[in-house]
Amino acid sequence: MIKKRFNSVFIDARNTSREKASNGNARNRLWWEHMPMTYKNWEGENRQLDSIDDFNYAEEVLFSNSPYLRKQYDFSAYANKKVLDLGCGSGVLSVVLAKNGADVTAADLTENATKMTKRNAELQQLNIKVVRTDAENLAFANNSFDYVLSWGVLHHTENTEQAFNEVSRALKPNGTGLVMVYHKSSIFYYVKGLIWLLLKGKVFKGYSLKTVIDFYVDGYFHRHFTKQELTESLSQANLITQNVFTTQQEQKILPFIPKRLDLYLKYHFGWYLISTFKKC
Ligand SMILES: C[S@@+](CC[C@H](N)C(=O)[O-])C[C@H]1O[C@@H](n2cnc3c(N)ncnc32)[C@H](O)[C@@H]1O
Repeated sequence: MIKKRFNSVFIDARNTSREKASNGNARNRLWWEHMPMTYKNWEGENRQLDSIDDFNYAEEVLFSNSPYLRKQYDFSAYANKKVLDLGCGSGVLSVVLAKNGADVTAADLTENATKMTKRNAELQQLNIKVVRTDAENLAFANNSFDYVLSWGVLHHTENTEQAFNEVSRALKPNGTGLVMVYHKSSIFYYVKGLIWLLLKGKVFKGYSLKTVIDFYVDGYFHRHFTKQELTESLSQANLITQNVFTTQQEQKILPFIPKRLDLYLKYHFGWYLISTFKKC
């Protein structure tokens, strides 16, 4: 109980990965093998997905947590296009893209995620190619895809810029994409950080806003970008930003604020930073 209050499952998983592997990429992989993204409680015992009910539940949670994906993102825009879902997790987005007619390749660093995605596709009777590969060294030929979607992934890899180079290489000329990464200039980053630093006392143990995040954010790595940093990193890989904005989960970004202010704050200071881009 005491351990739970003052430590976190994220820290424990990072320590385990650090003990078992010697370099960043291997530690990253171990973290996600051990803590797969299944939309089940991070602290729960069995977090694997196997049945159709499990996958439907994951889809429901992902979409209810992501009003942008539910209300604005047009899954049907990629029908008959070659689409890469990079960092597919349990394959929830791959499945929805495939149901909307896209020719989907789902890729992830871990054995666990690729296994779950294969199972998800099989249960939904969808033809999805599933590949275990590292975003920093993609197992795909140059100019393979029309579109790359990477939702909540590339802030978790050790070298995001190298992953953007790989996305660019794997995209066809004029190919497009969308990435979602964590946003630094966000209310979540500062408010949650201050809560942990001040109310949970981590400031007295030498933590800063930059390091205290280890307690409450997932992944072995979890880099936060400003809009400018993301735009520049993409552009160094010849991926030209078309639209960059933020979003967040359904619940209000701050308690007791009117709906219009909530929407305004989510669009500018949400925790999820989205950029659409085109390969030039
Ligand atoms: C937060 S989950 C997101 C999963 C999925 N996109 C979703 O929205 O449900 C991050 C995923 O990225 C994968 N990942 C992390 N680093 C990666 C890398 N270097 N290459 C490929 N996948 C990676 C993890 O294994 C994990 O499945």
